Formats: sequence, C-alpha cells, structure tokens
Amino acid sequence: MNRKFYVTTPIYYVNDVPHIGHAYTTVAADILARRNRLLGRKVFFLTGTDEHGQKVEKAAAEKGRSPKEHADIMVENFKQLWKKLNVSNDAFIRTTDTEHIKTVQGLMQMLWDGGKIEKRSYSGWYCTPDERFWTEKELVDGNCPDCGRPVEQIHEENYFFLMSKYQGRLITYIEENPSYILPETRRNEVLGFLRNNTLGDLCISRPKQRLSWGIPLPFDEGFVTYVWFDALVNYFSATRYLANPPSPPLSKGGKGGFEWWPASHHLVGKDILTTHAVYWSTMLMALNLPLPENIFAHGWWTVEGRKMSKSLGNVVDPNAMVEKYGVDAFRYFLFREVPFGLDGDFSEEALIRRINTDLANDLGNLLSRFLTMAEKYFGGKINIPTGDTRELNPFATECDDALAPVTYQDDIWEDCRHWSNLKFNVILEHIWKVISAANNHVAQKEPWKLAESNNHQELERVMFNLWNALRLVAVCLFPFMPTTAEKIWKQLGLKSLVDEVRQSISEVNQYPEVFYWEWRPSYPVKVAKGEQLFPRIVVGGIKISLKLDAEVEYKKEKTAMTEQGAEELVSIEDFAKVHLKIGRVLSAERVEKSDKLIKLKVDIGEERQIVAGIGKAYDPEYLIGKEIVVVANLKPAKLMGVESRGMLLAATDDDGKPSILVLDREVKPGARVK
Ligand code: ME8
Repeated sequence: MNRKFYVTTPIYYVNDVPHIGHAYTTVAADILARRNRLLGRKVFFLTGTDEHGQKVEKAAAEKGRSPKEHADIMVENFKQLWKKLNVSNDAFIRTTDTEHIKTVQGLMQMLWDGGKIEKRSYSGWYCTPDERFWTEKELVDGNCPDCGRPVEQIHEENYFFLMSKYQGRLITYIEENPSYILPETRRNEVLGFLRNNTLGDLCISRPKQRLSWGIPLPFDEGFVTYVWFDALVNYFSATRYLANPPSPPLSKGGKGGFEWWPASHHLVGKDILTTHAVYWSTMLMALNLPLPENIFAHGWWTVEGRKMSKSLGNVVDPNAMVEKYGVDAFRYFLFREVPFGLDGDFSEEALIRRINTDLANDLGNLLSRFLTMAEKYFGGKINIPTGDTRELNPFATECDDALAPVTYQDDIWEDCRHWSNLKFNVILEHIWKVISAANNHVAQKEPWKLAESNNHQELERVMFNLWNALRLVAVCLFPFMPTTAEKIWKQLGLKSLVDEVRQSISEVNQYPEVFYWEWRPSYPVKVAKGEQLFPRIVVGGIKISLKLDAEVEYKKEKTAMTEQGAEELVSIEDFAKVHLKIGRVLSAERVEKSDKLIKLKVDIGEERQIVAGIGKAYDPEYLIGKEIVVVANLKPAKLMGVESRGMLLAATDDDGKPSILVLDREVKPGARVK
C-alpha cells in the first residue's frame, strides 16, 4: 500500500488561455492524487506548460514580446486556474526550465551516441499552424488533413529518431499489458493502427534559421528540438528536479535514490493519444527506460453539441463556472455527467440540474435535515455505540455493500477496479447509493415519530446511522469535492478529515480504518449546523402558476415563450390583488389518510391554517420553523375535509418534486412579498 503514485497531465500550450478541456484533465489528475494521498501513498502530481515552438513564437511576436516574456505572462492563467479549481499539484513544470532543457539534451545525446538518431534530407508538406509534416497522400484537397489550412512544400535536412525500429516491440508490449492504454476502445485503436500501418521515423528537429524558439541539439548547434521530443520528456525530467525527493541525475544511471519514474498514469485527451502511445513509448524503449504503467485517453467536451472554438464564441471558461456555481459543484459535474473516456456535451442547464438534484436535494438536504433533528432531539450529541457492526445492522450493510466496491474491496494492496480503471462516474454513483439509502432511512424510520413516542433508544440509533453514513459519504467524496467533504466532516463534529484519515492508517491495517463503518472517533462528537452546502440554483424568468389544491407548478418561462408563443400578460394592478406574505411555520402534521397533504399552522402576522400538497417531498418535521411564502387572500377551501386558508408557494421540478420557496435571510412574519 505504501507504493509511490505518480500522475501527470499534458503540459498545455501557452499560446492560449485554459478552457474547460484543460480543467477536465487537470481535475481528473487531482482526484487521483487526492485519493492516493488519502491512502497514505507517496504522491507526485505534475502539471505544467509547453512553451517552445512556432505557435508560441508567433503569438509572442504578434504581441511584440519575446517568446519567454509571452510564456511568463500566459503561464499565470494556468497557475491561477489550478488554484481556483483547488488543484493540488505538487509541481509545475515549464519546458523553458533550465533543468528540463538539460535533461532533454542529455537524453538526445544518449540516443545520438547509441545510433538511434540519424540526420537525413527531407522534403514534405508542412502545416505551420499544426507544426507538422504530411505526406502528399495524406493531404485533403491539397490542404492539411487536420485543420484544413494550406500547407507549404519544405526541403531541408533534419534529425530523425528511428522510431520504426520499435514497431514490433511496441505491439507486443501493448498486447501483453492490457492496462497500458485505457480505455479499451482506445487501446484497440492504437493496436489497429500499429498492426495495419508501417511506422515511419520521427522528425525531431528544425533548422535554427526557420525556428529559433526550441532547445538546441547538443550535437548540432544549427538545429533545435521542440514540441514532441521536448514536451514528452517533461514527464521524466520533472522527476529529476521537481519531485520530492528528486530522483538521482541521469549520469548516475538512476541508481541509488528514490525513483519516481515510471509514472502511474499519464492522463491525456484523445487528441494526443498517438503521440503518447507511439512516440513516447518508443522513445522510452530506445532509452532503455521503463514505460509508464498507464496512458489514459479521455473523451472530448463539446458545448451544446458543437465543437468549442473562439470563432463560435462558445469556449467555456472554467473561471466563470467556478465563480457562478462554486468549485465543488463544477468538479462534481464534470465527473458525474460523463464517463471518463467518452465524449461529453457541456451545458449550463445540465450543470444546474445536477446541482439542484444531486447536490442540493439529495446530499445538501440530507445533511441539513439530519443536523436539524440531531440538534433538536439531542442538543447535537451523537451517541456512538461501541458494539455496532455491519453484520448486526441492516442499514450499515446497505451502506457497506454500496461503498465496498469503490473503497476497500480488492484494494488491500492494489487499487480497486473502479479506481484503477478511472471509472469516476461509477464511483460517484456508488456514493450516491449511500445518500439515497440514508434519505430512505429517514423516510422509513420517521425520527419525529420516534421522538413523539419517546423511543429514545431507537432515535439515537437512527441518528447514529445517519451520522455514520454521512461520514462515509464525506470521506469517499473527498477526492472529488475536497471543500465540501471537509465541511460535512466538521458539521458532523469531527476534527479534520485529512488528519483523521492519515491517523487511521495503522501498522496492522494499512487501509485507512476511517473508510469502514466500524471506525470510531477517539472523542465524543457534537454536531453543529453550518452554512448550507449547495443552495438551489433558481433559473431566471420562472413562471409561477397558482393552483387551488395548494400545489404550485413552475414552468420555465423560456420554454413557455418559445414553445407557446407570448404568454398572457397581467397588469401590475392585477398582480397587486394577490397578497403574498411571509409566514413562519409553527406546526406541521400529515393530513390523515393522505400521503400528499400536510396541514400547517403558519404565523403570517396572524395564525393561519393552510394545507399543502408537498407531503411526498417533505417531512412535516423539516418544515417547522421555516419561513415560507404564502398567498394570504385566497378564498378558503377544504382539502380532504380540512380547511385551508391560504396556500404556500413551491416550484415543481421536471421530476415532479415540489420545492418550497424559502428566504435567504430572516424576515418578520407577515411581511408583504411584492
Ligand atoms: O496538446 N475536451 O497541449 P494543448 C477535453 N502541448 N479535453 C480537452 C479539450 C476538450 N475539448 N481541449 C483540450 C498539447 N483538452 C501539448 C501536449 S503533452 C506532453 C503536450 C485537454 O494545450 C486534453 O487533455 O493543446 C488535451 O489532450 C489537452 O487539453 C491538449 O492541450
């Protein structure tokens, strides 16, 4: 278990600002790094920037800057975004670092000395924006097959890495190591490509007069290397000067120190899988260095069905998403919505849906209901039983069954399957099973009834069950939503999640005990309600339609306007006829023989009885003390024989579940809503 874990992201080009795609790969690496740190492993998480090459040289020239000045400015966009996204990288590599440059030159010299690099004259079609050569056959209508832009015929001498020699070895390696390239579909693509094509040699230089912004070849000052030979080496060079402790220098043959290489995972987008799976693998073979344990190529984000592009103006800025929706909600969405490996489509609507249903409703509500009840019934104290085990407690078994496959099962010395296959969405689904189980537990046990009938023993047990389920949810969620997990942990009366996990790794059981139902804190706990985890997002322009049976329906105005034409408009005078007032719920109970209706006594400046059809979504207990919005001058009506004088406002989501309107700060009961 005390293995090292080394995870990388691509190093991103500095010629542009980061967008959701860059955020995606980097947060994925962060999730893995956090998970592995939690398990007590030594972690090295590397990200960085790719700063050489023609594109950067050009972008800098356009701004009247030197390439390095330009890179120094642009790199900050990445560094700041990673802070904002709570990315816990251990190091940030720049290909302009002196130590990196030296490593690239050292490796090139080794290949040159070993006869694995050759100088050849070359002519081919060159695409400047893509910085690569194409053969005549590959061109589409005479243009670059990748970007469609014109190409130019170039004749020059260059240095070539003899990549073709390694084709057979690479095929065998991939065949013998099924998890070397993941997901499997990508592995099959690479194998198919290698089996059906003859691998050429790789041009790794540019004459200095054509491109100066690269790393000079150690054996020929007239040439530079750039982009792939430079960039891919970052993964190795960082272990020599940025890792803690740094691996020994190359001259010592990598012996006698802590060895970070090879990486556990290289995370990349599918766009750069070939360069990693073919160029990098064969470079490492030629250098007699071990290959990484895994290269994982994830899918591509589009936006509302279209490719992201500056010209379409649809590039999603992760900074804006974090500011609008919060960092954890954004992180959650990226990994819950789309299986890692498949393409995904981004829309704010989908993000809001996830926030409102999974985060505000399922998780946020559960925590807040639990804390309210725990404070009300036991002044926040949780009685933690000593003898309780999974085997004796059906609710514990349910939680354990849900979590075992994504926490400790198959995981005593190796990582469990879902984690080693990077099935982030499946892991989250398992965590949500516990959240649902806990919500069902409340509905089944009805703690308010246990309180009414003074069944303290059972009530204590239910409160403990919920406390422990939420604790397990927090610890499992930590890699995905670190701030939220810590917030839950603290509200549950515990000290620090990360500290407690570390302390719970014992000599005997190297898997942190805190992942088990049986873990107990060494001190008494008292829960304390804190800020709401995820306020529901209310989409602007929502229409409220009033219904006499005290159910209220929301329809999105946008849809109404586009699908049904203009809405019927009311004058301000008409609207003023409806008296909306703030009411504080004094008491709430179910109407007999109805699972839908709840009878409320509400203070709206005077006491009122109203009946609301929200019983399927709310426990009466939860409503007590809430400030709600009431239609005060509605004609009285009888619902299942019970008089209702007024009605409360609620919105109904697509799933048909009502959500009551509550205030974001306290207001005197009876205040008018206008
Ligand atoms: O290729 N969806 O850098 P780059 C998902 N410097 N991921 C996306 C994405 C999208 N729409 N757009 C970008 C380079 N990415 C080289 C890499 S590595 C030794 C050198 C992510 O700035 C994804 O990880 O073009 C992709 O592989 C990477 O950004 C490309 O970043």
